[in-house]
Amino acid sequence: MEFLKRKIEQDGLVLSKDVLKVDSIINHQIDPILMSEIGKEFANRFKETKVTKIVTIESSGIAPGLMTALKLGVPVIFARKRKSLTLVDDLLTSTVHSFTKNETNEISVSNKFLSSDDRVLIIDDFLANGQAALGLVDIVKQAGAEVVGIGILIEKCFQQGGSLLRKEGLRVESLARIQSLEEGTITYLEESEAILS
Ligand code: G4P
Repeated sequence: MEFLKRKIEQDGLVLSKDVLKVDSIINHQIDPILMSEIGKEFANRFKETKVTKIVTIESSGIAPGLMTALKLGVPVIFARKRKSLTLVDDLLTSTVHSFTKNETNEISVSNKFLSSDDRVLIIDDFLANGQAALGLVDIVKQAGAEVVGIGILIEKCFQQGGSLLRKEGLRVESLARIQSLEEGTITYLEESEAILS
């Protein structure tokens, strides 16, 4: 998606060979026009899949999840990383380990918002090691619902998440696929390479 790539080039900052900072458009300040375009793009890519719910994870998944939900005309549910005062009963939970942050979180969704009739599109901002996405897939499966696909804004293809999820047979659509952040430069995976990977 050229629009997102242009925004990343304008506003992103390569912090290291592993980390891209996009806090002026995605992770802290949020660009609503960008999010609207992202929602439109995911809605278009998954329009044949009869999505009934979007599932994402707080906090940076909420904006693109919401815009995609708006375009598809379905609700969005975000998994919580912290215990909520009101969300105590009948939780679907999974454990997510972040290799980047070296921390483990229990994520949860109330089971009243997912049922075995649901066809779920998972949305998240970054795909690195794939642990957040796998945790969300686990929660959707616990509800007996089906995962129709995973929509990612930025996939870091030099980390293992993408291949891990695709090997599980999951359809992963990433809008910007980064091959490398070496030497402070963002190199995208070419479409032809992307088809083979
Ligand atoms: P994984 O789920 O793919 O295994 O990812 P990982 O544990 O490595 O990532 C942990 C957090 O760091 C996630 O955000 C993820 O979005 C974010 N992250 C991973 N790589 C990058 C990167 O290159 N740049 C930026 N900006 N973030 C990255 P989180 O802790 O859930 O934060 P938030 O959603 O509350 O913002």
